Amino acid sequence: MKFFIDTADLNEIRELNQTRLVDGVTTNPSLIAQSGQKIAKVIEQICAIVTGPVSAEVTAIDFENMLKEGRYLAKIASNVTVKVPLTVDGLKACRTLSREGTMVNVTLCFSAAQALMAAKAGATFISPFVGRLDDLSQNGMELIEDICDIYANYPRFETEVLVASIRHPLHVIQAARIGADVATIPPKVLRQMYDHPLTKTGLEAFLADWAKTGETILESI
Ligand code: E4P
Repeated sequence: MKFFIDTADLNEIRELNQTRLVDGVTTNPSLIAQSGQKIAKVIEQICAIVTGPVSAEVTAIDFENMLKEGRYLAKIASNVTVKVPLTVDGLKACRTLSREGTMVNVTLCFSAAQALMAAKAGATFISPFVGRLDDLSQNGMELIEDICDIYANYPRFETEVLVASIRHPLHVIQAARIGADVATIPPKVLRQMYDHPLTKTGLEAFLADWAKTGETILESI
């Protein structure tokens, strides 16, 4: 499973990229707004840090302007993935941009029918939002299962299932169990995934026992 990080915070991206576990980044207009910077500048900087796909979302809602914005964003760096909303105009833009060789992430997906349309439109990624469905007492992971099952019936579909709107580590585990291709993970959740109190206390105990020996591994060679 690929791990993308879901943020436009450059410091977070720099720090988490050092784990060597980050395969890409997703942003959206809300995250770009939080960064307080111009979109082109933030995306350019993210693309210089992370070599994998970096999603940058259009804000136009009509086909022609989505295309203009998408082409503009795609020129920022070769790893830009243009993100379009799951609307008819978004699907049309997806089809055109993907035929031009641009990676496209179709976002704001809340149903299997929408995911099927995105795959037919040639999306590189489909982003179903699990957390926002859970918030409405609908099971977001059931949607991931449905989409993965449907895509598996059609090996010609190359669209990757990118689980978005992740709220906690269990979402990532469940998505991995289903076999989703990618999880886009907020920085806080990524940290929660490697932190465990038993790892911390276990390591402390090992080091305390080792210190009593007075040995160092390199000097014992
Ligand atoms: C990423 O591509 C999505 O925009 C993001 O995961 C949405 O997350 P949210 O529901 O926490 O805003």
